[in-house]
Amino acid sequence: MNILDFTSIDNLKRTSGEICSKGWGEANGGNISIRLTGEELAHFQEHQSAEKEHSLPYAVPELAGDCFLVTGTGVFFRNISTSPEESLGIVRINSKGDGYSMMWGYDGGGQPTSELTAHLLSHGVRKRVSSGRDQVIIHTHTTNLIALSFVLPLSTPVVTRELWEMMSECLLLFPDGIGVMEWMVPGSLEIGLATSQLMEKHRLVLWAHHGILGTGPNMEQVFGLIETADKAAEMLLKVMAAGGKRQAISADQLKKLAKAFNVDPLKEAID
Ligand code: 13P
Ligand code: ZN
Repeated sequence: MNILDFTSIDNLKRTSGEICSKGWGEANGGNISIRLTGEELAHFQEHQSAEKEHSLPYAVPELAGDCFLVTGTGVFFRNISTSPEESLGIVRINSKGDGYSMMWGYDGGGQPTSELTAHLLSHGVRKRVSSGRDQVIIHTHTTNLIALSFVLPLSTPVVTRELWEMMSECLLLFPDGIGVMEWMVPGSLEIGLATSQLMEKHRLVLWAHHGILGTGPNMEQVFGLIETADKAAEMLLKVMAAGGKRQAISADQLKKLAKAFNVDPLKEAID
């Protein structure tokens, strides 16, 4: 099997293009990781890496032996389609979960994203809480959600409720809400640990004044989740600029919606 024919590479190329058309992919902004499964994972199980092992700042034993397709650091999303071998790579986590080897890609001296710690710590949590279902993490610089983090209090229930009130789909697509974090140094262990803690409960995590992380079973669903949250943020900014809300979906209406569609909304955002 030719690695460039992997479905996960195709999906990543398509999504990075969509991110650029949204205007979220300025320069090297954003990074994506996918936990490989099935044939794609099996492809690497017998191979040894010629590269030396790199240590991780924090062990993730849940991911021992897993392989990830990960965007490279400094990579411009707009170049992924035309130079996948330079822009992308596959890493395998060692048997203790405290180091990784590069198995493919990063041609020309590249390395995995500087946010690898946040991705791997979050994958560890999501693999456990979703019983293996969540495989994809997208971090991107969503214009409207970033703008909103300057005007709303940095509170999970407040931001969640404001977005839910913008359109019915929000509560249905992210009943688990959007976890909100204060600004932290990008690429640090601190940002990685705080993100993964919020990923215990939420599939969306907002990094104030920086961007968003979303997770789910496949690229399309994660992109859709992020796109919906950013559209709600765009509407909220427009409503604010137009003088503020005169009416909105009420708490009772949100509860009715949740009941009708059988979803369990984040308690602290609805009460
Ligand atoms: P990388 O180029 O290292 O992936 O970093 C981009 C980014 O968005 C950092 O948060
Ligand atoms: Zn970023």
